[in-house]
Amino acid sequence: MGRLNGHVAVVTGAASGIGAACVERFHREGAHVVGLDLTVPATSRRTRVEHREVDVTDEAAVAAAFASIATARRRIDIVVNAAGVGGGAPVHMLEGSEWDRIIDVNLKGTFHVAKAAVTIMLDQPLVEGERGTIVNLASVEGLEGMAAGSAYNASKGGVVLLTRNMAIDYGRMGIRVNALCPGLIRTPMTSAVTDEPDLVAIRDAMLADHKLGRFGEPEEVAAAALFLASRDASFISGVALPVDGGYTAGRDPQLTRLFGLDG
Ligand SMILES: NC(=O)c1ccc[n+]([C@@H]2O[C@H](COP(=O)([O-])OP(=O)(O)OC[C@H]3O[C@@H](n4cnc5c(N)ncnc54)[C@H](O)[C@@H]3O)[C@@H](O)[C@H]2O)c1
Repeated sequence: MGRLNGHVAVVTGAASGIGAACVERFHREGAHVVGLDLTVPATSRRTRVEHREVDVTDEAAVAAAFASIATARRRIDIVVNAAGVGGGAPVHMLEGSEWDRIIDVNLKGTFHVAKAAVTIMLDQPLVEGERGTIVNLASVEGLEGMAAGSAYNASKGGVVLLTRNMAIDYGRMGIRVNALCPGLIRTPMTSAVTDEPDLVAIRDAMLADHKLGRFGEPEEVAAAALFLASRDASFISGVALPVDGGYTAGRDPQLTRLFGLDG
């Protein structure tokens, strides 16, 4: 028996990385999953997962997709907002168009999806005390600063507060809203940092900040998304949960090495 048997889940950013891992895990847990992304992944024909091409920056297209899924499946229980783009630079070097591109996908796209989801959830009956639940992908960079983060960090900080505000607005209506704040996860978005030989010094510095001594895998974020989306998290709303191998736990100016705790 899967943990999401009978649930309908919509996952954005479904063609890659964390979104794709959520699609795979939710499907395995018994949900009917609909993946939304700019493209339909090549693997879609081999699974029973439904994929649709939707750009989250297009409010009308997002609303139409959600309305059509709700009509076909009668209900939308779970939404994971994983569509996102990286980027940024120190502010004086950042083009306004680049600022707009990042904010449009990461923050405004999350708003479009959340709006379409809540509009449908508010009209559906309570099941086990819930009308639906939303999991937004923020980042550790929505909780604290990062050199050159600028637009990306602003977008993710916005997602964290949007999450908390939605948790307040819709809690009494039986809709839980939470955010995940991953550290560095090995996906196409981060392959430049994790795999480029030229960036080895930066990679090692970032690795040192992840106290478990490694970067995360998309499946580890999907496991946290499953927890927040499932009934196991029935009393959790408005949190921004780090999934970061201890990245945000605090500083270690190599004191663990001094005490022989560096592995
Ligand atoms: N990988 C990490 O280290 C990390 C860390 C913290 C937060 N995140 C966040 O997790 C989410 C997923 O990141 P990922 O690492 O899996 O990235 P990824 O690049 O592997 O996947 C992102 C997906 O979003 C899709 N997408 C981009 N713009 C879109 C749009 N306008 N409409 C629809 N889909 C769009 C892309 O096509 C892609 O399939 C993002 O929000 C990212 O900011 C990632």
